[in-house]
Amino acid sequence: MSSLGAVPGPHAPALDLQGRTALVTGAAGGIGRACALRLAAAGARVRAVDRDAAGLAELVEQARRAPDPAGGAVEPYVVDLTDLDAAEHAAAGTDVLVNNAGIQLVRPIEDFPPDVFHTVLTVMLEAPFRLIRGALPHMYEQGWGRIVNVSSVHGLRASVYKSAYVAAKHGLEGLSKTAALEGAPHGVTSNCVNPGYVRTPLVEKQLADQARAHGIPEERVLSEVLLTDSAVKRLVEPAEVAEAVAYLCGPQASFVTGTSLVLDGGWTAH
Ligand SMILES: NC(=O)c1ccc[n+]([C@@H]2O[C@H](COP(=O)([O-])OP(=O)(O)OC[C@H]3O[C@@H](n4cnc5c(N)ncnc54)[C@H](O)[C@@H]3O)[C@@H](O)[C@H]2O)c1
Repeated sequence: MSSLGAVPGPHAPALDLQGRTALVTGAAGGIGRACALRLAAAGARVRAVDRDAAGLAELVEQARRAPDPAGGAVEPYVVDLTDLDAAEHAAAGTDVLVNNAGIQLVRPIEDFPPDVFHTVLTVMLEAPFRLIRGALPHMYEQGWGRIVNVSSVHGLRASVYKSAYVAAKHGLEGLSKTAALEGAPHGVTSNCVNPGYVRTPLVEKQLADQARAHGIPEERVLSEVLLTDSAVKRLVEPAEVAEAVAYLCGPQASFVTGTSLVLDGGWTAH
């Protein structure tokens, strides 16, 4: 039998994370919030990490009102991930780690502020490294762990004006694969989830920026810039991404490691 866990039969059980601790970064909003709620609904005790204290308070309230009485608790951890020591420390003792926090700046390379490039790489690549580093000792000790890195189509493809973001996501893909190779003998899987454009504040904030960079009105950005390469002409919902994350944490996915689960409406089929 694989060291990654028992292979489920034809009637595989639903995701059950009772007794597990899951850490989700960027949990105050968007995809991270959906992931925190999904994992809590599966019974996990969720460490919700974000720099946005008000957003975390809303998440805790939302989790408290959730209909599932079996749901695990959501604990807010107000951490700025540029504090790399704090990030590594927060991950100690977790069974499931979802590296999700991200930021974006849309600007041609010649105008891209070097300090922003540095911050994007810190939050989206170096912090995930430190969080994985902090989580692995406990995962290795118990012989089980799940690492899910929220990458993007931009982990696999480039787009103009997104140098830092594309560089960080391509780096995250490499980090994730390396963690998969090192973690396999210890029962730890590591994968990426790669959404196309998701209906979140990060995308809403981008519309004005993209309109300026491409010299078109904001209302044309969605159809002419964001969804041009997507065969399915809509944004992905955060809950759909959270479901992919949940799948990768479940028993059905114990043989799935070192790979990228793409939810891009056919973008990369081109
Ligand atoms: N929205 C999309 O279309 C899309 C598509 C593909 C991938 N993604 C990826 O999904 C992830 C989540 O994106 P989202 O759209 O939900 O974004 P979002 O802006 O809605 O949420 C990101 C969260 O990260 C937090 N965050 C940012 N910097 C932080 C820091 N230094 N320390 C702590 N927390 C910090 C923010 O406060 C926010 O709550 C990102 O990694 C993003 O790259 C998003």
